[in-house]
Amino acid sequence: MTEGLRAERQGGPRAEHQGGRAAGHLADTTGQREEGELLNIGAICSDRVCARGHADRVALIWEGFGDRKATYTFGDLKVFSNGFAQMLVDQGIAPGDRVCLFMDKIPSLYFAFLGVLKMGGVVQPLFSAFGDESLEVRLASAGTTAILTTRKHVKKVRKILDRLPDLTHVIVVEGDPSKLKDGEVFFDVESAPRVEEFDVYRSGPETPSVLHYTSGTTGQPKGAQHAHDSIWGQALTTSWVLDLKEDDIYWCTADPGWVTGTSYGIIGPWSLGVTQCVLDSGFTSARWYQFIADNHVTVWYSAPTAIRSLMRDGDELVAKYDLSSLRHLASVGEPLNAEAVVWSEKTYGLAFHDTFWQTETGSIMIANYPGMPIKPGSMGKPFPGIAAAVLDLKTYEPLTEPDSVGLIAFRPGWPSMFRAYLNEPAKYASRFVGAADGATPDELRTDTSLWYVSGDRSSVDADGYFWFVGRDDDVINTGGHLVGPFEIESALVEHEAVAEAAAVGKPDAVNMEVVKAFVTLKPGFEPSGDLELSIMNFIRKKLSPLAMPQEIEYKDKLPRTRSGKILRRYLRAIEWGEDVGDLSTLEDD
Ligand code: WT7
Repeated sequence: MTEGLRAERQGGPRAEHQGGRAAGHLADTTGQREEGELLNIGAICSDRVCARGHADRVALIWEGFGDRKATYTFGDLKVFSNGFAQMLVDQGIAPGDRVCLFMDKIPSLYFAFLGVLKMGGVVQPLFSAFGDESLEVRLASAGTTAILTTRKHVKKVRKILDRLPDLTHVIVVEGDPSKLKDGEVFFDVESAPRVEEFDVYRSGPETPSVLHYTSGTTGQPKGAQHAHDSIWGQALTTSWVLDLKEDDIYWCTADPGWVTGTSYGIIGPWSLGVTQCVLDSGFTSARWYQFIADNHVTVWYSAPTAIRSLMRDGDELVAKYDLSSLRHLASVGEPLNAEAVVWSEKTYGLAFHDTFWQTETGSIMIANYPGMPIKPGSMGKPFPGIAAAVLDLKTYEPLTEPDSVGLIAFRPGWPSMFRAYLNEPAKYASRFVGAADGATPDELRTDTSLWYVSGDRSSVDADGYFWFVGRDDDVINTGGHLVGPFEIESALVEHEAVAEAAAVGKPDAVNMEVVKAFVTLKPGFEPSGDLELSIMNFIRKKLSPLAMPQEIEYKDKLPRTRSGKILRRYLRAIEWGEDVGDLSTLEDD
């Protein structure tokens, strides 16, 4: 480490952020610091567990495609995350730099995640199925300095590197080192020299930690910036909602490219020193059941799309596996239909417990707790300490009449709340109602007289249970993943044949929604099945398989408001068989 960097890490630019909440027992991580001084997620999830005498406990049970398997202890987690942290420091990466992780769910993804945090970097995980355009937009927005990837995915990085002046480091963590291009660095943590001790960056509660991109209705995706303080909320909810105990074997099926895969697929379980499993292979019901049976999974956190797929594959399959280790099931990401809850109770003897939260909230906000009577179809009740309400759609006043539909909103100030939309303070401010003009992000997130508005609609019944109604915007939720219509439309009009485009969600039995595109063609192009395939593939490659339209409808013209905005809501209503209402009111939107 250079002297300059060491000086900065020990007293430097972030020292002013060290105040705030007393760090308490979670902060006692390495034994090298005074208690209460350091709050670092990377260290809490590895060094601290070892310091408490659990270095030999299994941290990660990993399975990949075919029969690839590996097991790592918390001691390994400490050493390998140190390895990544030291390598990044040696490469000249500085605290505060954005470091992107762009790889499948391989073990190095998990080590690197903790390693980036340990050296004070901001970790930016991106879904490995993203195409080059999805990747470029997010790296450019974040001004990312370094990207860690694999041989399999580095090609997409090479394609866009010229357009990303800030991206000065491409580090390949797996594959054949002889195949790298000039300037690319190869680093395999498991064969590199072991780094037993690393001088952890002195992050405080407000030091930026994880950066997740999330889609909105308008514009490109926004970078939701989290801070190390988030671990309080993540640890508590993992304990009280997911019910994790020291001897559990936990499986979160989410990919760390999305927030569930970091809050509950890394930070939550490991902050509590719990063993977790990762399956890095495609979905089949049989493989999932085998995985649960082989690894004696006790607590399972998944998503409605997966649950509906399991349902579709039927009860006979379930009977072939010994799933008796399971004791608690939870779900997130999209509405969990009542049938799925009833089915899981009948089939596994355990009901899936629905939970509600968002990239921006960082941790579970509304949930069905263990032991609480479940009303199938309801998301449950607010987590203790979370003040939640539904607000009138127009006045933003809390609705007190049971069962009335309004906007789900939370009083700000919970620890895992996002601290910013990177570089977009006005967008951040727009998520709060009641704020004074010009309020700073710090004022917004600590002013408990405001409401943070989630963008979802719900009702609350007389017993205080929340019932999801739908999103309040045009964002498409496909299999629990949000995709922004604007991002898809922008990519569609880059296709040589497409003049104009609108993207909406259409109903789907398993994924809840899939993308449907409406397009008008440029002169000289005719509608055809081949053209449809060509457009679909174009989007799959550029953006991702999730964003790829499952259907393309050719139009002579697209419906627009008087001011020229495409009427997505009108197109969407037709897909859902809903009353399209009075077009003139839609036009006022
Ligand atoms: C959006 C947030 C939170 C982790 C995964 C998604 C929808 C989330 C539920 C639920 C109905 C849900 C909402 C929300 N959503 N959980 N239990 N019932 N809808 O994070 O990508 O930020 O998506 O997912 O629309 O706003 P995200």
